[in-house]
Amino acid sequence: MLPKAELHVHIEGTFEPELIFAIAERNRVEVPYPSVEALRSAYQFSDLQSFLNLYYAGMNVLKTEQDFFDLAMAYFAKASAQGVVHSELFFDPQAHIARGVPFEVVINGLDQAVRQSKQTHGLSSSLIMCFLRDLTAESAMEVFNQSLAHGDKFVAVGLDSAEVGNPPSKFKNVFDKARAEGFVTVAHAGEEGPPEYVWQAIDLLKVSRIDHGVRSLEDSKLVEALKEQAIPLTVCPLSNVKLKVFSSMAEHNIKKMLDLGLNATVNSDDPAYFGGYVEDNFTAVRQALNLSKAEEIQLCRNSINAAFIDASEKAQYLSQLEKSAV
Ligand code: HPA
Ligand code: ZN
Repeated sequence: MLPKAELHVHIEGTFEPELIFAIAERNRVEVPYPSVEALRSAYQFSDLQSFLNLYYAGMNVLKTEQDFFDLAMAYFAKASAQGVVHSELFFDPQAHIARGVPFEVVINGLDQAVRQSKQTHGLSSSLIMCFLRDLTAESAMEVFNQSLAHGDKFVAVGLDSAEVGNPPSKFKNVFDKARAEGFVTVAHAGEEGPPEYVWQAIDLLKVSRIDHGVRSLEDSKLVEALKEQAIPLTVCPLSNVKLKVFSSMAEHNIKKMLDLGLNATVNSDDPAYFGGYVEDNFTAVRQALNLSKAEEIQLCRNSINAAFIDASEKAQYLSQLEKSAV
């Protein structure tokens, strides 16, 4: 197993049914399913929205700092066992604030886990605050203003939730403000949405990485721009198959991305819902697309190079990769 960075994982999407039930019991709240097995068997999706409905329902039981800490520590244990040496976690503050859970509770619980992960697993990590694109631009600005008191606890802002009908252009103002405040930016684009949304993420939101971006290959000029500007794509193969972006793993275009010279990486997105963590994604791609060892090493190298870490940390992880690749 090769060392790698994970750059596209929603912490709320790592919430395994067993932990949902355990935290629900601790907080004395009801889960609308009779058992862990019944909940897990509901994880059959027809598209992004059908997944998001369950994803937002699952996080309903999270109430306290301890809950967010436990959630993130459970993820770090799984990720570490799958070769992850550095991880950048998305979180969705608006989804929690809307349920009456204060921003501070969410970010303080996650921040404590980020610190603990280095000690417990030797795994470095950071947080990326996402705006829910199906809510208004005003709501995004409001949560961003609120987040500034905790600006030392996250490194970037991102954009997630229901893509089609909610283009990046809707969030130009808040992304301008985030960059002015010193944050780098990323955005989900070209998962279900058209190549035009990827263009907007690059040109209007000035993103440092595109999350998913698999539909970029429909536009050859866009492929050229992604190469020219060396913009990494955080691809999530099991997610794409579960949400029917591709009809099977054999149809997935991640190998094509490498052939085109794109800077692709492999990530788990929402591993509790999509059937696997990051090494499980590598295994699925390896089996379906006959990836060579060299291609696998390239995907890991890309992930370290695309991480929001300093040059000395990158050099250290890259040398760890080259050593384990021989
Ligand atoms: N796409 C968009 N929003 C999301 C996802 C995703 O794959 N996972 C959690 N929020
Ligand atoms: Zn995602």
